[in-house]
Amino acid sequence: MEVVPSMPDVLENRDFLKEIDFTRDELQHLIDLAAELKAAKRSGTEEQQLSGRSIALIFEKSSTRTRCAFEVAAYDQGAHVTYLDPTSSQIGHKESAADTARVLARMFDAIEFRGKAQATIEELASGADVPVYNGLTDEWHPTQMLADFLTMQEHTASHAAAPSYCFLGDGRFNMGRSLLVMGAIMGSDVRICAPQSLWPDAEAQAIARERAEESGAVITLTEDLDEGLRGVDFVHTDVWVSMGEPTEVWESRVRELMPYQVNAAALARTGNSATKFMHCLPAYHDESTLVGRDVAALTGVTGGLEVTDEVFKSSATIAFDQAENRLHTIKALMVATLAR
Ligand code: CP
Ligand code: NVA
Repeated sequence: MEVVPSMPDVLENRDFLKEIDFTRDELQHLIDLAAELKAAKRSGTEEQQLSGRSIALIFEKSSTRTRCAFEVAAYDQGAHVTYLDPTSSQIGHKESAADTARVLARMFDAIEFRGKAQATIEELASGADVPVYNGLTDEWHPTQMLADFLTMQEHTASHAAAPSYCFLGDGRFNMGRSLLVMGAIMGSDVRICAPQSLWPDAEAQAIARERAEESGAVITLTEDLDEGLRGVDFVHTDVWVSMGEPTEVWESRVRELMPYQVNAAALARTGNSATKFMHCLPAYHDESTLVGRDVAALTGVTGGLEVTDEVFKSSATIAFDQAENRLHTIKALMVATLAR
C-alpha cells in the first residue's frame, strides 16, 4: 500500500525558492499555519518549535520587512540568526554566493537568500543540504506571496482561498510575476494591467496558464484599465523601478506607467466600494524619501508615483496588515520546514 506523506512531512527540509515548486494545498497549508501562529502570538500561547536552530540570512540587496520578519520569527520560535550583507561579508567580491552557501550549510540549519538572479539561489540550494528560502530575487518573491494571500484571505468576507485581484504597474519583476503565478496556482481571478512592454515575460505567462488549467484560475493580461480593474476585490502595485535598475530609467518609466497609477479614479473603476489596496512596500506615495524627492524634481510628478498619497493614507489600504503578515508567514515557513 502506498503511504501518502502527511503535509508536515512533505514540507520538512524543503527549499522555498519559487511558488511553482509547490502545490496549492502546500501553499494553503503554510498560510493556515501562519494564521494559527499569528493567533498564538497574539494570545500569548505560542510554543517554541525551533529552539537551538540557527538560520543564516544573506542579503545582497537591502531590506526592512523581510530581514525583520526572519529575525523576529526566529527569535519568537527560539532560533538564532546571523545576518550577512555584501559589505560585512565576503559574498560577491571575494566569494560566490554558491561557495558561501556550501560553507554556511555546514554551520546553519537553514539559509535565507535575497539577491539578483534566481539562478544564483537555485545554484545555492543545489549545493546546500539545508532548506534555502528565497527572500526575493529579480524573478520571484515567494515569501511575499504567502503574506499577500494570508492578508487577502483575512480581508475577504468569505475568507475565500482564491480572491480576485489586479496588479497595476511594472509586471516584469518579482511582484508582477509572483502575483500572476501564485494567483494561477491558487485558482484566483488574477489580472495584470500594464503597457504590454511591461507584462510578465512569456515564460511566466506560460507557467501561469499551465497552473490555471489545474486550478481553474482566470488569467488576464491587459492594457485596458476597465478590463483589469472591473469588480476586483484587491488592487496591488509595486515600485515602478526595482532594486538593481539604473536610476536613469525613472523618467521613461514614470511616463509609461502614470496611466496605471493607483489613484482614487483607479479604485473607483473597480465599481466595488469594498476594494482594498495592497503594496509589498516600500512605497513612493509622497516626497518624504530621497528617491521620492529626486523623482519629483526630475519628472514634476508630486503626491505619489505608483500610488497617490490619498489612496495610500485611505481606509482602503491594507499594506500594513500585509507587512505584519510577513512575520507570521515567514515563521510558518521556518516551522514547517525545520521543526522536528
Ligand atoms: N516587501 C519587502 O520585501 O520589503 P523589504 O524590501 O523591506 O524586505
Ligand atoms: N520589485 C521590488 C520589490 C521590493 C520588495 C524590487 O525588487 O525592488
